[in-house]
Order: sequence, then structure tokens, then C-alpha cells
Amino acid sequence: MAINLSPGILGLAAFALFAVTVLAYRALLPKPIPGIPYKKESAKRVLGDAPDLLEWRSETKEIWSYIRKLTVDLESPIIQMFMRPFGKPWVIVADFREAQDIQVNRQDEFDRSTYIGEVFGPLLPGNHVWMPSNETFRAHRWLIRDTMSPGFLQNVVGPTIHDSTQDLLTLWRERARLAQGRPFEGGKDIIRNLVDVIIRATFGFDVGAIAAQLNRIFGMDKIELPTSIDSPAIFPYAADPEAYTSVRTLVDSLQIALKSPIPKQHLTFALKFYPSLVAARKWNERMMGDRLRAAWRKFSGNPDQDDQVKSAVDLLVQREAQMAKKENRNVKYDTRVIRDELFGFFSAGHETTSTTICWALKYLTRHQDVQQKLRSALRSAHQRAFAAGDLPSSHEILKADIPYLDAFIEENHRWGTSIPTVIRIATRDTVILGHRIPKGTDVFMLNNGPSFQTPAFAIDESKRSKTSQEWKDKNGVWDDSDIAKFTPERWLVEDKGNVKFNPRAGPVLPYGFGLRGCFGMKLAVVELKVIISLIVWSFELHETPLSLSSFAGDDMNTHRCQQVYFRLAETK
Ligand code: HEM
Ligand SMILES: *[C@@H]1O[C@H](CO)[C@@H](O)[C@H](O)[C@H]1NC(C)=O
Repeated sequence: MAINLSPGILGLAAFALFAVTVLAYRALLPKPIPGIPYKKESAKRVLGDAPDLLEWRSETKEIWSYIRKLTVDLESPIIQMFMRPFGKPWVIVADFREAQDIQVNRQDEFDRSTYIGEVFGPLLPGNHVWMPSNETFRAHRWLIRDTMSPGFLQNVVGPTIHDSTQDLLTLWRERARLAQGRPFEGGKDIIRNLVDVIIRATFGFDVGAIAAQLNRIFGMDKIELPTSIDSPAIFPYAADPEAYTSVRTLVDSLQIALKSPIPKQHLTFALKFYPSLVAARKWNERMMGDRLRAAWRKFSGNPDQDDQVKSAVDLLVQREAQMAKKENRNVKYDTRVIRDELFGFFSAGHETTSTTICWALKYLTRHQDVQQKLRSALRSAHQRAFAAGDLPSSHEILKADIPYLDAFIEENHRWGTSIPTVIRIATRDTVILGHRIPKGTDVFMLNNGPSFQTPAFAIDESKRSKTSQEWKDKNGVWDDSDIAKFTPERWLVEDKGNVKFNPRAGPVLPYGFGLRGCFGMKLAVVELKVIISLIVWSFELHETPLSLSSFAGDDMNTHRCQQVYFRLAETK
């Protein structure tokens, strides 16, 4: 039996359906925070800014350059983006002073973003990186704090880095010999070196990632070379050791979360079911168990043997043994917390630094004058080593005061921006630059754009927070006329006839600031100083052909370089 609906009723039903659809659609549309500029088209679609960002990424492999561009297009130091349906808008701040103020002076209004928990939580449930700044966070920081003590860094980690990096120098001498003046890809060797370094510093054993490549080519007469002197030499490569691939597979798995609209669920699933990840985790858990037991054997009898501390795992187990003895309780040296803090240590300890070193060597290649100045600064600081035809030792490198090295490292941070943004969540309703920010909003503070690398936005002082106004003169500002240049000299000042490094010369923000700034900064500085010094001491990095010298980035876990090619000659 057909129902006979009059056209009038049909029309009404159609209209009702239409109205419901429109309302439902409206409910899905982004809800801008009043007053903060945004891209108008993005507010008219459910997916907001995501399609534009994805298009940019597929064209350029970059993410943060899009967001920087948006602040410039919208002509505002504070903008908003709509990145997840139903989610709150992201607020973007592109101004050094407000960023510093939020991170240092406004910790009761801003804390670690819950987004970080969605990304890191599945892989590192027992690590402090994603936790709010609560008691648990403080206990974790306390457990690992000695890994940044000067004694451990100078006496244990420094020599370890120095020793491991000599394998890289040997490998590159072989590569340079076989390449006969041709450029070659060097980025992967830098990552291999940093994994060798950090695993030894964390657990005391050799991954041998560089050694594997060295064994593959050591002593070879020659390799097949392209005819053009500007085409890259391709070497025979060895398979990377399981320890290396496991470490890298686990660290790279964060990408799964970073690229997903449902990060937590996606990564949790992948960790359970992707065979490569399952295998890498199995290796990691077994290795940790072995290393923790080995450390325990050292300290179970007498926890106070400081000379037995050879790596971070020794330090943590020793600390636990001492606490247990004092509290007269059983030792718990193998816990999720200890495992995940060690995991965080070796992941963060090599990913960021390897990226930063790739950028450093690229800038030294591009700016030959900077390279020469750096090398002569190193030579005049390390006269013993130069006279003896030796490498400077790690102690010599870490003791020396070389303003030009410090300045170069800082300028490299300003341009390399290994981590192009620091993220915080508003823990209450608050205000940034005169705009109301609702509780629960994620705030992204860019360090790759205005005020850092390009002219700052003009900002009315009265719009800034009170503490920001008070800190006005804490740091210098960059002059618009040369802000776009790579000049380490901007970090140097004359002081009674002596040249000194001034870390507050102007905006840079590589490590974040405040309680939740980078935990590992002191270790990072040791890695950067020792490795950059040894490479510049040993090799001239000659210019590379334009087609292999792009400064385009690849926004993975860190802002990596797309092309890392070197043309090396041993220094004379
Ligand atoms: C050049 C090298 C490095 C760079 C550029 C870098 C950068 C950063 C940045 C930007 C943050 C976030 C800070 C914030 O939110 O305010 C961070 C956090 C962190 N970094 Fe580094 N980092 C580097 C090396 C290291 C190293 C060597 C370690 C070794 C353990 C490390 C461990 C950590 C940890 C544990 C956190 C989380 C801190 C927390 O949640 O409180 N980083 N790093
Ligand atoms: C701190 O925050 C983490 C993550 O939300 C939570 O698991 C932990 O229980 C908190 N600790 C305290 C003491 O509240």
C-alpha cells in the first residue's frame, strides 16, 4: 500500500530534513575563539585548516613553515587554526617575548599539553615527558636528575661521545678517500653515530652502527664512481645492526601518532600489531631487562662504588639501591618507570641532536667563512692538540671557553629549529596579547618565524602581560636589516677588550624555557660541542653542488633536513 503524501507535506519534510542537516553541519563547523584572526575559508568547513596544511606538507614535506606563513598572511602574532573536528582551535603565538613569558612566568596558567600525552603515552606510559607538572612528574625528574650532573657529563658521557665519534671520523676518512672529491650522503651516518653514542651513554654497550658501515668499506681499493665530480658517490652499505633498527623503529613510530587524527588509538594499535614494531619492542624490553640486571649485579653488594658508574642505567640503579638501603626496604631496580625514563633518555638524547648536527654541518658547508673562523677558533683554543697533531680530548673541548663555537651553535639553533614549536595547554581561562583564551586550549609557540628569523610583529606594550612588560629588556632583539642572515657574530660582544658570548643577544628558543623546558639541555650541549669540534677539526667541508644543497626541511619527529650531502677533505 502506497502512502499518499500531498506535495505540501513532502515539501515540509524536505525542508525539515534540510534544516536538520544544516544545523548538524553547523555544529560540526569550527568554533573560532572571538577576536583571534583565522583563515576565513577554514571556518566554513568541517576539516578546518587540515586540508591546506596537508596539501602544503605533501608539496614541501614541511608543516611548521605553513603555520609560520599563516601568521604572516594574517598579519598577526597570535592566530588560531582548526585542526580537529569537535576539537578546540589551536592558538599559535609567533613572538619571542610572549613565548618566553608563558613558559617561564606563567606556569600556573600553562602546563604540558595533553596532546603530548596522546602522542607519547602509548609508547612511554612511564615517562615524565607527557605528564602535567604534578608530584609524579617531580618524582621522575628526581630519579633521573643525576644524569645531568657535571661529574657524569664530563667524566662519563664526554669521553664516551669522543670515543664513539672517532669511529665516525675513520668512516668518513674512508668515504672521502673512495669518493675522490665527490659529495656523498652523510645524514644517515650522523644518526648512526648518535645512536652509537647515546646507547653507550645510557647502557654502556656498543651498537656498532658506524662500525658495521666501516667494516663494509674499510681498505677497499676503489668503488664505482659516477663520472661527474658533482654526482654523489654511492658506497656499498652494510645492513644496520638490530639494536640500531630497533631503536630507530621505536622512535619513528611516534610519527604514526603525529600524523593521525586519533593519535592515541592509532599508535596503541600499531604497537600491538605491526610486526616491525612488535619485534623492536621485544628487543627493547629484553635489552632493558639484561642491562638492569647487569647494573644491579654491580651495585647489589655495595651501592656506593661511584667509580663503577659507566652509564645512565648504572646511575639510576645505584640511586635506587642507595635509597632502598637507607629506607631499609627491598630494591625495585626494574620498574616500568625506570625502563620508560631510560627509553626517553636515549630517544630524546639522539633524535634532536642528530638533527641539529645535520643542520650545523650544512650551514658550515654553505658559509665557508664561518667554517674557517670556527676552525681557527678551535685551533687557537686547543694549542696542545694542534701542536701534537692530536684530536682535542673531550675534557679539553668541554673545559675550553670558545665564544665563536658557542655563537655558532646558537646561530645554528636559530636557523635549524630542530623543534620548531613549544606547546602548552591553558590550565584555566586566561589572556594572551589581549585575547581571551579558554581553559583547555593548546597554545603553539613558534620559533621559526617572526621575531626569530623574520621581522617581529609590532605589538602594543599594553597588550602584553605584566611580567612580559617587566622582562622587556632581558633579551636583545634582532635588527630587521640583518635578521635574515646567518651570522654567529650577532651572539658576540666586546667586554673590556675581550670577545664574549652573549646568550641573551636576541630571540632563539631551541629548548623551551621554564620547568618544562628541555631536561637534557646540558647533555645536548656536550654532544654538540664534542661532535662538531671533532668533525670541524678533522675535515674541511667543501661546497656541495646546488642540486644537493637544499635547506628544505622534512618535518618528522624533529625538523630534519631533506638533503645532507658533504664533500670532505682531511684538514691540513
Ligand atoms: C639539540 C638537542 C635538543 C633540543 C633542540 C631539544 C629540545 C627540546 C624541547 C623544545 C623540549 C620541549 C620543551 C618545552 O616544552 O618547553 C624538550 C623536552 C625534553 N627534552 Fe630535549 N632537546 C634536545 C636534546 C635533549 C637530550 C640530549 C635529552 C636527553 C635526555 C633531552 C630530553 C628531553 C626531555 C626528557 C624533555 C621533556 C621535559 C619535560 O617534559 O619536562 N633533550 N627538548
Ligand atoms: C600526575 O599525572 C599523571 C598523568 O595524568 C597521572 O598518571 C598521575 O597519577 C598524576 N600524579 C599525581 C600525584 O596526581
